[in-house]
Amino acid sequence: MSDKRPIGLLDSGVGGLTVVEEVIKKLPSEDIVFIGDEAHMPYGVRPASEIIKYTREMVEFLISQNVKAIIYACNTATARALPTLQKEFDIPMFGVIKSGAQSAVKDTKTKEIGVIATESTVNSNSYPETIQATDNKVQVRSIAAQHFVKIVEANAGDTQKAKDDIAQTLKPFKNTNIDTLILGCTHFPMLEKQIQAFVGDKVKLVDPGIETTNVAKQFLHDHNLENADSKKGEVELNTTANLDSFKLLAKDWLGSDITDINLVNIGD
Ligand code: DGL
Repeated sequence: MSDKRPIGLLDSGVGGLTVVEEVIKKLPSEDIVFIGDEAHMPYGVRPASEIIKYTREMVEFLISQNVKAIIYACNTATARALPTLQKEFDIPMFGVIKSGAQSAVKDTKTKEIGVIATESTVNSNSYPETIQATDNKVQVRSIAAQHFVKIVEANAGDTQKAKDDIAQTLKPFKNTNIDTLILGCTHFPMLEKQIQAFVGDKVKLVDPGIETTNVAKQFLHDHNLENADSKKGEVELNTTANLDSFKLLAKDWLGSDITDINLVNIGD
C-alpha cells in the first residue's frame, strides 16, 4: 500500500520551514505542501478567535491541495486553533506542543524546564499544562519572546542588536536550575546558535518540530499512508504575502534547489 498524496504543513510565516526541513530529512520520499500566512503574521499577538479563523483558512487551502495529513508547524496555532479545528475536520492533524513537552520531560534531570514562545502560546498555558500532565514534579519557567519572531523574519539573527536582545530576554533563566529549554515557537530554531551561546552548553535545547515529525512518521506508517516510492519527494512552498523575503529565507534555510515557491490568496 502506498499513498502518494502530499503532507501539508502550516505556519504564520517562515518558522514552519524548520519543521519542513525535518520532514524532508525523516520522510524523504513524501511530497510536501507548506503554507505560511505572512499576510497575517505574527499570530502571537492576535486574539485566539483570529488565530482560529486564519488557521482554518490554511487548513482549507491544504485540504484543497489534496494533502493526507496536516502538521501544525506553529506552536501558537497548535495552542489556540488545533483543539477547535480537530473537531471540524476529519483529516489527521498533528500539533507541536505535546511532542515538545514530552521530549523535554524525558530530557530534564533537574526537573526544571524553560519555555520560550510567543505571547499567545505563553498566555495559553499549554506547555506547563502538558508538561505537568506528563510529570507533575516538573517546574516550568516560561518567557514570552515574541520579538524573536521579528528578528527571524528580518533575517537579522546575526546582528549585535539581536544578540543583545536575546541576552536581555533570556537573562531571567540565568538564576534558575533549568537544564532543558523548549524552543516553543517554530521560528526559534533559526536562532538556535545565538540562544545556545547565551544559555550555555549545559542547557539542552528542545525543538518540538523534531519529535512531532517522528510522531507523524509513525502515524503514516501505522495507517498505511506512507508514500512507498523511492524517488525524492517534491516540496511546494506557499506564502500569503512577502514573496521576495520569504523566498530568500526559504532558500537560505532549505537550500536553493527548492524552486516551487508561490504567492497565494486564501480566505476572504
Ligand atoms: N511560528 C509560530 C509559532 O510557532 C508563530 C510566530 C508568530 O506568528 O507570532 O508559534
